[in-house]
Amino acid sequence: MPSLNENFESERLRIYALQDGAIRAQALAFCLRTNMFERLANGPLTMEELGLAPRVAPALLAFLTNQGLAERDERGRFKSTPITEHFLVRSSPRFIGGRSLLFWGFHDQIGHLGDALESGSPISNKGQADLFGRFHADDHRWFAEGMLANAVTGSEFLLNAVDFSKFRRLLDVGGNSGGYTIELLKKHPTLEASIFDLEAVRPLAEERITQLELEKRCSFIAGSFFDDKLPTGHDVLLLANILHDWDTAECQHILGACRKAIQPEGTIIVIEPMLAENLTGPEHASVSGLTMALLGGENRTPSRISELLEDAGFIQTWKSTVGEQNSIVTASCPKGNSSC
Ligand SMILES: C[S@@+](CC[C@H](N)C(=O)[O-])C[C@H]1O[C@@H](n2cnc3c(N)ncnc32)[C@H](O)[C@@H]1O
Repeated sequence: MPSLNENFESERLRIYALQDGAIRAQALAFCLRTNMFERLANGPLTMEELGLAPRVAPALLAFLTNQGLAERDERGRFKSTPITEHFLVRSSPRFIGGRSLLFWGFHDQIGHLGDALESGSPISNKGQADLFGRFHADDHRWFAEGMLANAVTGSEFLLNAVDFSKFRRLLDVGGNSGGYTIELLKKHPTLEASIFDLEAVRPLAEERITQLELEKRCSFIAGSFFDDKLPTGHDVLLLANILHDWDTAECQHILGACRKAIQPEGTIIVIEPMLAENLTGPEHASVSGLTMALLGGENRTPSRISELLEDAGFIQTWKSTVGEQNSIVTASCPKGNSSC
């Protein structure tokens, strides 16, 4: 292992990057909001053609170029890079820019992380219910874009870990615009699915279901997992990035509703960022855990998720290895358990 002296300069700069993370995030969100990456992909463009004010353009372009998010050609014009075309241009199936817009949408709240860490309480005493309750139509769209980005890689991780060929009907609880459901339906042509989420999400989900001509195999059911019964008749329930939004009592409520709705011997699958059992990371899951600390949820270890499932009456829990971005815990509903 290199000594601190050898790494001193790079460690110092790494800490600088932690300190000015908010500036980096805001600059990236600005580029996404102004379709900068699409314009660079249609480039090359001069600084003037990019329409940026001359005082700020050099710093922004130097930042983007330094981060590998823009390239300067021999005539001094700027264009996109393979990285931006892959991840930051909206038409790419790997587009992850929605996350930036999502964070941009609650940048004011992010400023209160210190208060949440000091008090141990989220910034709103209603937790995430306040966040989702205050969303406007635009917020829902950004949020959906952010979640879709996440679902592309999350569903690959899920399909590698769990055999979906044995399932018939999926209920995607809090499924948003169907990021996970749609990937699962694409891979498993006999699977049918219901997406359960708040009424406000319906237009986004139905737009995608129609676009992909999945109306015969997929429907959207509006409701709240706190106030309404979950739809029945499903042998597999998916909770993707749901439990970590909520505190223990709220998770118990959601899992209780799942247990009532799932078919006997059905499978419940929890996929979300989880902390390593020994609390050494991973990086993404720990940072996402700080966001949850702010908003009212909690990133948990796989063992803690298993406990919550067992407390709700599920059995035979199985845990995946802890992944950088996603981990999975599955459980079964016991045969003959009248609650299931
Ligand atoms: C973090 S997102 C996860 C979306 C999706 N499962 C995914 O991973 O891509 C949480 C979802 O829960 C939904 N949600 C929030 N409160 C809800 C409630 N009370 N009942 C049902 N869904 C709710 C939100 O609208 C949002 O789609």
